[in-house]
Amino acid sequence: MKLFSSVKDVTDVNQLVSEAIQLKANPFADEQLGKHKTLGLIFLNPSLRTRLSTQKAAMNLGMQVMVMNMDKEGWALETQDGIIMNGTTVEHIREAAGVMGEYCDIIGIRSFPGLKDRDEDYSELIFNKFVQFCGVPVVSLESATRHPLQSLADLITIEELKTTAKPRVVLTWAPHVKPLPQAVANSFAEWMNKADYDFVITHPAGYDLAPEFVGNAVVTNNQDEALAGADFVYVKNWSSYQDYGKILSDGEGWMMTNEKLKLTNNAGVMHCLPVRRGLELSHEILDGPNSLVLNQANNRVWAAQAVIKSMLKGS
Ligand code: CP
Repeated sequence: MKLFSSVKDVTDVNQLVSEAIQLKANPFADEQLGKHKTLGLIFLNPSLRTRLSTQKAAMNLGMQVMVMNMDKEGWALETQDGIIMNGTTVEHIREAAGVMGEYCDIIGIRSFPGLKDRDEDYSELIFNKFVQFCGVPVVSLESATRHPLQSLADLITIEELKTTAKPRVVLTWAPHVKPLPQAVANSFAEWMNKADYDFVITHPAGYDLAPEFVGNAVVTNNQDEALAGADFVYVKNWSSYQDYGKILSDGEGWMMTNEKLKLTNNAGVMHCLPVRRGLELSHEILDGPNSLVLNQANNRVWAAQAVIKSMLKGS
């Protein structure tokens, strides 16, 4: 594998999940594979889980890891081509990406959307330019439109815990005080469609995801109807795709609670974290037996390790 930015980059998703589960059982089986290889992790935005789980995955494979908080420690990046750089940007992404490719065997990059210009965000300008100019395999650590390492970890979590071949999986919108990207929801939908579960998306009117991500999912604005019989409930806020980057209402009544859990098939409740307690998800759920948030966080390591291993073997 040379690129991990979407489920479309994976030839055999079942095999990748199986690989991750095997690595979980035997984390150091490939500790020689990454010897004298360097992983560079570039963050243009904050992170806890992605940063630490990917570092741990690389260390389990025997790699060296360098982390660059580009937003705080790097030069201000220019992304436009052909521009006269007489403003505030100091270094062009062409040189920055090329330089990092000289130092690293694999690069991971996180670059969130600006949520101002939908066409620009959905063109994945920064992520694609890094891929184009760094010259080494690239792992997305969350781009403007997708978070594939999170989605792979989510799929691993469901595969480990499901009790039927085709569980009912519900992605439900949740309230938030800030406009958030659609990336986690887009990506989760993309991977759930690939997994061929009974997949339902529920959100208030105006929060439809882009059709390419909705795929074959059933979509409803009636949360109770969606939750009925659910085996897994994935809770996540996202801002509007249609009225791009906007919060359309306070979302009162959409927080997942124990009362709503009664509608489900004793569902496992998922969230990628960080989560706003008492706003997106109730304290009682997060502190209760149905919460799978730590299972998901744990599986971030094995998701990253399976992907990096595949890149090391291909490079
Ligand atoms: N879920 C997730 O990606 O967490 P971080 O933003 O902390 O990396």
